[in-house]
Amino acid sequence: MTTTFLPRTRIKDALAADSEQPAICVKGWVRTLRRSKEVAFLALNDGSCFASIQIVLEPSMAGFEEAARLGTGACVSVVGALVPSPASGQRWEIQAARVEILGDADEEYPLQKKRHSLEYLRTIAHLRPRSNTFGAVFRVRSALSFAIHQFFRERGFLYVHTPIITANDCEGAGEMFRVTTLDPLKPPLKEGKVDWSEDFFGEKAGLTVSGQLQGELFATAFADIYTFGPTFRAENSHTSRHASEFWMIEPEMAFCDLAGDCALAEEFLRYLVTFALNECGEDLAFFDERIEKGLLAKLEALARARFERMGYTEAVARLQRSGQPFEFPVEWGCDLQSEHERYLTEKVVGGPVFVTDYPAAIKAFYMRLNEDGKTVAAMDLLVPRVGEIIGGSQREDRHDVLLQRMAAWKIAPESLPWYLDIRRWGSCPHAGFGLGFERLIMYLTGMENIRDVIPFPRTPGNAKF
Ligand code: 4AD
Ligand code: MG
Repeated sequence: MTTTFLPRTRIKDALAADSEQPAICVKGWVRTLRRSKEVAFLALNDGSCFASIQIVLEPSMAGFEEAARLGTGACVSVVGALVPSPASGQRWEIQAARVEILGDADEEYPLQKKRHSLEYLRTIAHLRPRSNTFGAVFRVRSALSFAIHQFFRERGFLYVHTPIITANDCEGAGEMFRVTTLDPLKPPLKEGKVDWSEDFFGEKAGLTVSGQLQGELFATAFADIYTFGPTFRAENSHTSRHASEFWMIEPEMAFCDLAGDCALAEEFLRYLVTFALNECGEDLAFFDERIEKGLLAKLEALARARFERMGYTEAVARLQRSGQPFEFPVEWGCDLQSEHERYLTEKVVGGPVFVTDYPAAIKAFYMRLNEDGKTVAAMDLLVPRVGEIIGGSQREDRHDVLLQRMAAWKIAPESLPWYLDIRRWGSCPHAGFGLGFERLIMYLTGMENIRDVIPFPRTPGNAKF
């Protein structure tokens, strides 16, 4: 066999080969090594797919002794013949001719074969991508990022990069991280307060909580746009569904009302679920078996389901009638807590549901006021297990009403002149929504903690790695 330079074959491609190969080269990390006197078997994984490839090492091979002593986690380059495997569950294996050790690993390597808790794996986030579960999570996450762009591109949406540093708190919840170069020990003061005009940007700036406001500006030029980027919230919630840094997809459409907004959200989610079923089958089968029993059936049902719609007023009535002992009592005017959201989607509807037309007082200033003067054209899409996965609305496009709404929220018109301007010149009905990317990945994989679907989670008290 000639083993002069051979380009690397991805293990995914090697396993999908349609014929034997006299010589191929694979590189990856050792998952397990089993040896007997006659032979050693090495399971090699390079992250290109869930499965590892079996490498067969025979004592006649030069360097057999070193190779057969390799530990889990070691990195190797293998040259050998791709031959049919007699073992069940795998079509091909590699009969090794040469094994080159690129990086050894001793028995202190933390990812030994036994099962580890997700909590423990979080403490070794630098190594967990090499485990089965996290390999699968991050392949799904990557594939779905691509699906999102494909969905919008097929529909003629313009992709816009909205700023990460901004002076505007879109959601008005006071959850912005500050971006400053002022000396915290002696900031410039004016009348006893920090003088932000002396700061780097000449005003108080922070990390964006949403790209929506700038997205709206682009929607009044390109009609259909979307953003897909990182979002930051200094929200002190210690839940399994909130992260301080997460990714959000925000489409914004001119000439669109709340019904059109819900229709796009439904089409979008169905597209993403179908994409995952078609493109991530091997990884989803693992989640179905190990993480959430019935996951595949749930996703297949969602891909066919008609999403229900329910007004907030009705949702409150249904929750009140349920007789459930909720931790937070429900009455008209209160914000729905996650226990209420999950009850609605899991018990009342048994599937995805849009809750629409929330009280104006509990939603952001930019949502369009309904005829009743009390509610706004808002929607939240709730799904089983995750709860709110999408939040959106039709926007207030009437200049005078928007001014009143801003006054009610004590937002100075001078702070958002450009946002008001697009209501002065060429205003039009428009609507949009935000999909939390991590919530989507939780839904698709069955992973229950947001910390386990983002590579290096940022949460209160934690910015490691
Ligand atoms: O409901 P939210 O706050 O809506 C907005 O930000 C709007 N500006 C969107 C728009 O209309 N363009 O957030 C949208 C979604 C939520 O439904 C949720 O899925 C996710 O973003 N999300 C979070 N995900 C993880 N961690 C957090 N702290 C999140 N906060 C919101
Ligand atoms: Mg929301």
